[in-house]
Amino acid sequence: MNELTAIVDSAKAAFADAATPAELENAKAVFLGKAGRITELMKGMATLTVDEKKSRGAAINLAKQAIEAALNARRHALAEAELQLQLQAEAIDVSLPGRQRGQGGLHPVSLTMERIEAIFGSMGFDVAQGPEIESDWFNFTALNTPEDHPARSMHDTFYVEGGSESAPNLLRTHTSPMQIRHAVQHVKKHRAAASALDGALFAGDMPEIRVIAPGRTYRVDSDATHSPMFHQCEGLWVGENVSFKDLKYVFTDFCRTFFENDDLVLRFRPSFFPFTEPSAEIDIQFPSGPLAGRWLEVAGSGQVHPNVIRNMGLDPEKYIGFAFGMGPDRLTMLRYGVNDLRLFFDGDIRFLSQFQ
Ligand code: DAH
Repeated sequence: MNELTAIVDSAKAAFADAATPAELENAKAVFLGKAGRITELMKGMATLTVDEKKSRGAAINLAKQAIEAALNARRHALAEAELQLQLQAEAIDVSLPGRQRGQGGLHPVSLTMERIEAIFGSMGFDVAQGPEIESDWFNFTALNTPEDHPARSMHDTFYVEGGSESAPNLLRTHTSPMQIRHAVQHVKKHRAAASALDGALFAGDMPEIRVIAPGRTYRVDSDATHSPMFHQCEGLWVGENVSFKDLKYVFTDFCRTFFENDDLVLRFRPSFFPFTEPSAEIDIQFPSGPLAGRWLEVAGSGQVHPNVIRNMGLDPEKYIGFAFGMGPDRLTMLRYGVNDLRLFFDGDIRFLSQFQ
């Protein structure tokens, strides 16, 4: 029996030495496998008498059971150790500050849009929205833009499918089509109330048109200061007695409020747009700061052309007004000192989070 005790002891020692489940299974094979020590002893019983077999077999079985018990104990111990290691590795330090989901915020250009809407809202302007896929009529023709105007070329304008040759669809190149869309709606509403003759230009009474139209616009253009998609905000004020003086007053007040600077200087530089006559580009100059002394263009503007007034359904003998179109992207760059327009459209959180 000493031999069996020795085998059981050496099995226990081998199992204890096994540091991993794989090593343990190898150790198991040495004792309980097909060519293992216990199996060999079983085979060796063939030559014994029946009585010898009984006692010998019982003893070997006891040894086998002892080895199996030791094996299972070691299996459990290894599994437990492995679990403890895993728990340690994945331990949670409940004293660490929590990792929170970052709070979102508005895009800097959206902040500018909201600011523009608030300032013009305080001056009695409505806010209008319109389609970004526009027809040739609203984007060009109704705005008195001639057939051969360079802005209509494929180099400048994204044409899209769905229109006809005589009335192509395009991505609006400016927010100016909203002048026509909004005015036509306005006139329709009030000429019905005045029961004016359909078709004729409206010369009855109606409330003034005072509206801004912010939104996305598109041109075939891309560099540090131009993006194929950019923003514009149109402004329109049409009434019976609206003059260039009002334009100067309104826009000056807007710029000074927007930049929170009452000493901001404005310059209305003569220019040309098909839909205004006379036309002016509006430059601003900061009295101090990094941009001081430079004229910075911020908008196009002018007195609405009589042909455009007609396309609104209004009689230009009675109605007159001014319009302007500005770039909220540029206003945002000037306000925050951003020098590359593309930063606004990259979606880089490191840049955008600075505006929250
Ligand atoms: N639509 C012009 C542009 O995109 C800007 C503009 C100029 C708008 C004069 C106006 C205006 O309303 O009166 O360059």
